[in-house]
Amino acid sequence: MITLDGLTKVFPAPSGGDPVVALGGIDLHIGKGSIHGIVGRSGAGKSTLIRCLTGLEKPTSGRVEIDGTDIAALEGAALRAARRDIGMVFQQANLLDSRTAAKNIAHPLEIIGMPAARRAERVAELVSLVGLEGRENNHPAQLSGGQIQRVGIARGLAAEPKVLLCDEPTSALDPSTTRQILQLIRDLRSRLGITVVIITHEMSVVREVCDEVTLLENGTVSQSGSLLEVASDPTGPLASELIPLPPAPTGVDDVMVDCDYGGNSRMRTTQDLIDLAATYGTRATIVAGTIETIAGVQVGRVQLALHNHDGTPITRPGLQQFLTDLREAGVVATEARR
Ligand SMILES: Nc1ncnc2c1ncn2[C@@H]1O[C@H](COP(=O)(O)OP(=O)(O)O)[C@@H](O)[C@H]1O
Ligand SMILES: [Mg+2]
Repeated sequence: MITLDGLTKVFPAPSGGDPVVALGGIDLHIGKGSIHGIVGRSGAGKSTLIRCLTGLEKPTSGRVEIDGTDIAALEGAALRAARRDIGMVFQQANLLDSRTAAKNIAHPLEIIGMPAARRAERVAELVSLVGLEGRENNHPAQLSGGQIQRVGIARGLAAEPKVLLCDEPTSALDPSTTRQILQLIRDLRSRLGITVVIITHEMSVVREVCDEVTLLENGTVSQSGSLLEVASDPTGPLASELIPLPPAPTGVDDVMVDCDYGGNSRMRTTQDLIDLAATYGTRATIVAGTIETIAGVQVGRVQLALHNHDGTPITRPGLQQFLTDLREAGVVATEARR
């Protein structure tokens, strides 16, 4: 649905210095109906990327294909027509205070000149789609933060776009409202088959709603893949953010090992690690860890304390054997430093 090919954006130097390379050649494909997260530090190029996707910003070079059309090559009326395929949701919905929820949703339809009767039908559909029945005649001051964002989403969907671009859609919401809005986004994807791109700085949003994620660093893609792929690659930059290891325990005298398992490893659960240790008389105890289930697969980063069943410390050769067996099973295993 979305293909970026060598997308580059260079801004002229603000005051005679070097030009700013905001996007340095991005290649990315986002399939129809997926929910794709874009993450990255401030200044990484997220806003520039989303402005290029909306056609608001002209790339310096490269292609921005949306459903087969290179919107970077369009101008004027053709660009305006192509932009109807793209709906936007912002952190703040910025509703018109003088208009009811329904009239706010109707606004973009008025702008594109939809006849009043058809517009009323479409607004009613949208109100029910985003779960605002009974609130359509409320003004923004009479709506909760979550309801306001539902209006924002309905407005973004009004012209039946193929792609919904969400820029920090939940950053102004409390955690439970955030969960409801993310659930709504998932439902809309299932019901409409719409493709969703979410820009966020919150890893919890990525964990909860995204199928795939791309990390931008200094205007380039530093990691991209399905959530399971990136979470279960402990050498990649996103794993430790998606599956953080809690602070190491104190007051443990045993030898400790850090284990990252999941995805392709033959160890499917923490119990498998404990069972492996038990095969040669070693008792493994979980002393710290984070375990997540992503796409039905357990991904974990755990710290195990090891000692023999009779309570004696395990030997160096015993430790080496355990580490070798773990690595052969696809686990990233290292002795923990204390
Ligand atoms: N209009 C502009 N003129 C000059 N530099 C810009 C402009 N917009 C963004 N930049 C620069 O491009 C880089 C990426 O910015 P941005 O896309 O806003 O990143 P993010 O949204 O990830 O914080 C930054 O170094 C920023 O200063
Ligand atoms: Mg930004």
